[in-house]
Formats: sequence, structure tokens, C-alpha cells
Amino acid sequence: MKSALWWKEATIYQIYPRSFFDSNGDGEGDLPGVTSQLDYVKNLGVDAIWLSPFYTSPNKDGGYDVANPRDVDPRFGNLDDAKELIAQAHKRNLRVIADIVPNHFSDQHEWFQAALKAGRGSKERERFHFYDANEDGTPPNNWISLFGGPSWTQVADGQFYLHLFDSSQPDLNWENPEVNADFEKTLRFWIDLGVDGFRIDVAHGLVKEDVLTNHPDPQGLSNALRLDVAMDSEVRNALLLTVPYFDRQGVHEIYRKWRKLFDSYVGREIMAVAEAWVHPPVNATRYVRADELHQVFNFDLLTAEFDSKVLFDVVERSISLNATVNALPTWALSNHDSPRVASRIGEEQARALALFVFGLPGSAYVFAGQELGLPDGQLQDSDRQDPTFLRTNGQIKGRDGARVPLPWSGNTTPFGFSTGKPWLPISQSWRDLTVESELADPKSSLHLYRNALELRKEFLVGAGGITWLESCNHGSKGDSLLSYTRGGVTVVMNLSDSANECDADGRLLIVSGGTVDARDGKKVIPARSTAWFLT
Ligand code: NOJ
Repeated sequence: MKSALWWKEATIYQIYPRSFFDSNGDGEGDLPGVTSQLDYVKNLGVDAIWLSPFYTSPNKDGGYDVANPRDVDPRFGNLDDAKELIAQAHKRNLRVIADIVPNHFSDQHEWFQAALKAGRGSKERERFHFYDANEDGTPPNNWISLFGGPSWTQVADGQFYLHLFDSSQPDLNWENPEVNADFEKTLRFWIDLGVDGFRIDVAHGLVKEDVLTNHPDPQGLSNALRLDVAMDSEVRNALLLTVPYFDRQGVHEIYRKWRKLFDSYVGREIMAVAEAWVHPPVNATRYVRADELHQVFNFDLLTAEFDSKVLFDVVERSISLNATVNALPTWALSNHDSPRVASRIGEEQARALALFVFGLPGSAYVFAGQELGLPDGQLQDSDRQDPTFLRTNGQIKGRDGARVPLPWSGNTTPFGFSTGKPWLPISQSWRDLTVESELADPKSSLHLYRNALELRKEFLVGAGGITWLESCNHGSKGDSLLSYTRGGVTVVMNLSDSANECDADGRLLIVSGGTVDARDGKKVIPARSTAWFLT
């Protein structure tokens, strides 16, 4: 299991356990289901799995509402199942990253229940943000929840508690030392059980400032924080500089403490990756200073257009900003919170972008199903379960589309995912996107991912920085081609709708779609496609 800093250029496969594989026919994926498919995961060529939360939870927010962070929710199995999953992953040389949720608990957590009972002014309430109403009966301030509606909910005795997300997710008060002590206990619990790292949910949100102060433009701020609301970028950037509950200096003190805890497990190489949506982008580098966390998500590719200038800027900025703190970037095209990349930019473009990104320095995150080229599931409103949908009265559709269970085998929905009724319906149109069907098709997205990840390991991991060859800032065909060399590999992405010539030397290693021809000593890259050449 030992390698030098295994996480630095790892490929990490994100599993949303509820949607991965159902072992007991109740329509929901579970931990034994994940364990049963670890050979599939291993054969994909990834180095680690990140498991979205599987802890005890009323599941109001897909398990990000944790009622007991040191136990497994019965819908997913039990602690023995978690141990077995970790053991089986390790047996296959796969590391395991758990998802920790320190910004809030579920309202079903015993602390919150105790706080409700204990009443105003109690020690129990100090673990959360409880305040009296304003004199006119309104909440302590005008903040809007990230899921829509007010950020405050009133309890029976008239006090309000703060929740940046759903009302069932009360925010913890990190000024109370009991909170950190409990989280350190949770970190140790999972490390002792065998996990190799953590994804830290809302890592930038733990410390709040000005909790009793109104924001001058709460609706504007709420819109600015939503990627699905269109807004002039200057207006958005100006608003994002004013968030009073994200990216406060105090969060870094917490991660310095946690880093010491991780490092105290000598020889284990425990890592942590921060989910930190911060502004301006340079602030993200603070989370990966030498004495803090190991990685911070770069979310730019979740929203970037398939456009050479945009993609050049994202890649260049991420590499150079991380370099200022001696860190490597992370790359993610999809996750459980955003539309699937194939739906967002197109199926061929999604393959091309994946192959482009797999050549870059740093860690690549792959959201389960992305390797199959899955689009977002088509859902009826009556199927939807995301609190964003529910809290906005259906105005915002929410994230369920990306969470539709994986199709595994057979010709009929639910394609081997479950013997029961899947918690979200799987469309019959996914028949050719099952694991079984793609394994049988050498030109499938699945084969592309498997081949690419093998080549990435062989030629690119550890190969140092990139040198741009073609881009809007370098070379002549900037608008249609993006190209870089790294190690002995030249990576060329053709973003245009027609084939394009390039000067790349060397032998073709892989192409994301179509056929690479040679013409007059030049290579012809198919439309919307990426190719790697070995010199
Ligand atoms: C980010 C998680 O990825 C998302 O799914 C969740 O709803 C929020 N944090 C709140 O925990």
C-alpha cells in the first residue's frame, strides 16, 4: 500500500453510494454493493475511491445531513460493512477517502435534540448558532439559505438557529471547542477504521462573521452563489467578495490542527481535500499551504464552456496558483452537485475534455458514471428529492439528475442496479450505456477511460509541468486547438466542428473519438476530439 505521496497525482473515483449498486433489492445502493463492484473500479485504473456520506442520517440532503458521524446508516449497511469495504479496497491497492461534514449536523443529531430541550442560554445551544428574534419578531439577520428560503428557522421557545443549507442542517458553532474535539474524534474514528483520507464538505464555511448583521443585498448574494443563475461576471465577483460566512481566516486554524492530527499517523499518508468555493480564486491556495490540507477542489471545469480561451485560462490559472504554494491542482468534470459533463457540453466534447485533463499534472476526480458517458437522468418533478427543488417550490430543479443510479447490465431498466425499484428511475434509453454493453464495445467511453488511465500512469504521472504548444496565447490555431507537451507525450485537443491539422510528432497513443489521419507529414485530429502522441 505504500508509495510516495500517493494522492498527488492520483485518479480518484467518486462513488455516491446510494446510486452505485444495490445489494439487497431495496432500490438504494449500499456499502456491500460498492464492495461487490470493487473489481470494476480497480479495472478502471483509478487509485482511490471517495465515498459520499453513508453515515446515520434522515437523508434530507443525500446524507450530507449527518445524525451520527461515527456510524453507518442502516440504508447503507453497518460498520462491519464499512470495514469490509475498506479491507477489500486495500486488498486491491485502492485507497479510501471518506466524506466529512463539519459545517452542520442533522437536526436529528443528539446534540441538536439536546439543544432543543435545554432551551435558551444553555451550553447545549452554544454548539450551534441560536439567537433571539429581532424586536419585530424577524430572524437575527437577512441571510438566505444556499438551498433557498431564509437561513434561519424558529424553534418553539422563539429562538432562531442558523442553517446555511436546509432547515434540517443546523450550522455548528466552531467557536465552541467541543465542536472541534468531536470532529477530531470522528477523524480518528475513521482513520483507525482504515480510511486513507477525507473530503471535507463546505470546508470554507465553518467560521462565520457578523452573524447579527444584515447583508446589504442578500438576494443578490444568494444568486451570485448559485451557478445556475446567470449574472454579469463583474457583478457576481463583486458580490462574492462580500460573503460573511465563507472563507473567513479562522477556518485555517482548524485545518492546521487537523493537519497535525493527520501527520501524527506516521506512515499512513492520510490526505484531505477541501470543498472550498472561494473568491477570488487565489484564496483557494490558502487551504493547501504546507501546514494545512493536501488538495483543494478546482470547480472551474464544472461550469467552463467548451472553448479554447476559457479552458486555457482555467488550466493555466489553476496550475500557476497552486504552484505558488507548491501544490498541484485537482481536476473534476462532474460531481453529485452539478449537471453531468456529457449533458452540459456534449458527449464527444466530454470525452475530449476528459482525455485532455488526464494528461495534466495533479489529481483527477471522476464521478461514477462519468466513465460511461452518462447524461443527466430525465426526471419528472414527482421523482425529485433534492432539498433545493423542495425549498424553491420547484423553481430550481436541483441535483437529482446527476444522481440517477448506474446502469450495469441487461437490456431493461433498472439494468442490474437493483432487483427492486430504484430510488430514482433509470431511463430505458440508457440501454447502450450499461457497463456490460460498454465493455463489449471497444469504442465505448468506458474503454476510453480505462485505456487513458493506464496510459496516464505509464507516461504522465510524475512527468512534471506542461509546455503549451497551441492555445489562444501561443501558436497560430488558438481558437480550434489546445495542445501541450508533458514528459514525452503531446496532447492535442481539437475543439472545433471540423477536423484540424497539427504538427504533433510521434506515435498515436489514444484518441477520444474518430480516427487520426496523417496528411503531408501532419496529423489530422478529428472534430471535438483529443489525441495523445508519444515522441
Ligand atoms: C456540498 C455537498 O457536496 C452537497 O451535496 C451538500 O448539499 C452541501 N455541501 C451541504 O452539505
